[in-house]
Amino acid sequence: MARSLSFLVSLFLGIGMSCTSAQSPEPKRDGKPVYETREKHDPDGIGKFYMGREIAWVMGHQAAAWLERPDREETELPQRVVVEMDLKPADVVADIGAGTGYFTFRISPLVPQGKVIAVDIQPEMLEIIEERRDRLKARNVVTLRGTEQDTRLPSESVDAVLMVDAYHEFSHPVEMMAGIFKALKPGGRVILIEYRGEDPDVPIKKLHKMTVDQARREMEAAGLKWSRKKDFLPDQHFMVFEKPLNR
Ligand SMILES: C[S@@+](CC[C@H](N)C(=O)[O-])C[C@H]1O[C@@H](n2cnc3c(N)ncnc32)[C@H](O)[C@@H]1O
Repeated sequence: MARSLSFLVSLFLGIGMSCTSAQSPEPKRDGKPVYETREKHDPDGIGKFYMGREIAWVMGHQAAAWLERPDREETELPQRVVVEMDLKPADVVADIGAGTGYFTFRISPLVPQGKVIAVDIQPEMLEIIEERRDRLKARNVVTLRGTEQDTRLPSESVDAVLMVDAYHEFSHPVEMMAGIFKALKPGGRVILIEYRGEDPDVPIKKLHKMTVDQARREMEAAGLKWSRKKDFLPDQHFMVFEKPLNR
């Protein structure tokens, strides 16, 4: 089982989308560029590093079917994930890096008076979500095409953000998180789910995992406050961060 998962992950997560862009100036912190480029790097990564972490290639839409593989029910407990998000019926939730909407359509029934905004940079992924939304008549699902640097969510418009297996491939994590911070209402939450980087037994490539320490450093640098971690997933961290009430 672990072996076959590892094989599939190698097969599909190796398919990258080109991550060129960055017309805006590179962000700086304490006068120094926040990103570093290294020539010698992991082939699964784009050679760009943030806080010592190499950013992974984006998973291309050609692998969309892999996101809907049946064994995710067992390995990623998606129904439990959305329950553990502690949503209220009128919440506005952004599923950022939504892919095929694997989580979007599980969140939708939990926010009947609110909505789920599925954000992705690949139009092919958003088309899959729109087709499914129309078929299921999930009227509270909307799609939003972001850029590699910006979700395009309006300021203080969302109660909760979910990012599952997506953040580690954002080519511009600082710019993305600045926009996400702005888009959250005060007290709003980011739920970040990533494969456990501390655990060598999790059969996923290194750049597709994150440690709690690394995730905390990156989220706290964006102004978010660590809230808690819930330990119910077999292979992933379920981490919760909050936007302070006074920001
Ligand atoms: C591995 S898929 C995970 C999809 C979904 N969250 C799931 O768990 O099934 C990662 C998705 O993130 C998207 N993505 C990558 N960079 C992004 C960015 N800067 N903004 C929004 N989406 C992005 C990719 O296009 C891809 O659809």
